[in-house]
Amino acid sequence: MHTKLQVGDVMRGRSVAEVIASRHDAFAVGEIVSASTGWQEFAALTPNPIAGGIFDILKIHTPVKPYSLHNGILGGTGATAYFGLLDVGALKAGDVLVVSAAAGGVGAVAGQIGKVLGARVIGIAGTPEKCAWVTGTLGFDACINYRTDNVDQRLTELCPDGLNVYFDNVGGEILDTCLNHMALNARIVICGFISTDHAATPHPGPKNYTNLLRRRARMQGFFVFDYAPRWGEAEDKIREWYQAGRINPAEDVDQGLEKMPDTLQSLFTGANRGIKVCRVGDDP
Ligand SMILES: NC(=O)c1ccc[n+]([C@@H]2O[C@H](COP(=O)([O-])OP(=O)(O)OC[C@H]3O[C@@H](n4cnc5c(N)ncnc54)[C@H](OP(=O)(O)O)[C@@H]3O)[C@@H](O)[C@H]2O)c1
Repeated sequence: MHTKLQVGDVMRGRSVAEVIASRHDAFAVGEIVSASTGWQEFAALTPNPIAGGIFDILKIHTPVKPYSLHNGILGGTGATAYFGLLDVGALKAGDVLVVSAAAGGVGAVAGQIGKVLGARVIGIAGTPEKCAWVTGTLGFDACINYRTDNVDQRLTELCPDGLNVYFDNVGGEILDTCLNHMALNARIVICGFISTDHAATPHPGPKNYTNLLRRRARMQGFFVFDYAPRWGEAEDKIREWYQAGRINPAEDVDQGLEKMPDTLQSLFTGANRGIKVCRVGDDP
C-alpha cells in the first residue's frame, strides 16, 4: 500500500533504465530494467523479491529499441492486454471482441492482439479522431464513439449475434450496455473502471448482470502483477508480432523530464492516444 506523497518527495513513476552501478548479484552494470524509479534521471533502488525468483525491478532479457517499448507493448501495458484477453477472456479465432477505452494504452494493444488472434474487433472510444485512428492505424474492424453514437444500437448493428469477449476498461454504463449484447458463454474481462474512478457516488449496478445467467456467461477481474512470473511469455509473443509488423507500438511520446506534469495530466483529460510515454534523454 502506497503512502501519500509529501511535499519534497520524488514523484512516483515507472521507467525503463540502465543499471550503471550494482551491489546486487542479480543485477549487472549495463543491464536494462523496468522499475519504479520515480521521476528522476538517476535512482538508487533496492530490489524486492515478489514471486518465483522475480524482483520488483524487472530485468529485460531481450532489450528492443526504443527502450520505451518495455513500458508499453513489451511491458505492463502489453502484459495487461495479453493475459486479460488470453487467460481471462479465453479469446479464440472467430470470436467477436469488444474493447472499451480502445484508444487508451491497454485498449489499443488488446484490440490489436485480438486481430492477430483472428477475432473481429469492435472498439469504443470518445472522439471521431480516436475512432478513425483505432480503425485506420490499429486495424480494428469498427469503432463506436460512445459520446455521439447510441452504443446499444451500434452493437446491435455490428454484432447481431452478440459479443464473445468484452474487454472492459471503463465499467459504468458501457459495461451495462455490453452485458445486454453477450452471446452464449461470453466472457467479460474486468480490467478497469475508469468511468467510475472519480465518481462522487458509487455507480449503481451493473443492472444487467442477470444476463450472465441467461447467457451462461462469466465476468472476471484480474490484476496484471499477479502474472509477473509469466510476463516474459507476453513479452516474447508481442515482440514477435511487433517485429513482424503485426502490432503497432501505439506510443504517444513526450520528450523531456520537464514535460512530465503535462504527460501525467493528459491521462486525466483523455488527451492521450495509445500508450503515453515521456522520454528522458536519449532512447537509442
Ligand atoms: N487490471 C489490471 O491489472 C490493469 C492494468 C493496467 C491498467 N488497468 C486499467 O485499465 C484501464 C485502462 O488503462 P490505460 O492505461 O489504457 O488508460 P489510458 O491510456 O489512460 O486510457 C484511458 C481512456 O479511457 C477513456 N475514458 C475516460 N473516461 C471514460 C468514461 N467515463 N467512459 C469511457 N471511456 C473513458 C479515455 O478515452 P476516451 O477519449 O475514449 O474517453 C482515456 O483516454 C484503466 O481503468 C486502468 O486502471 C488495469
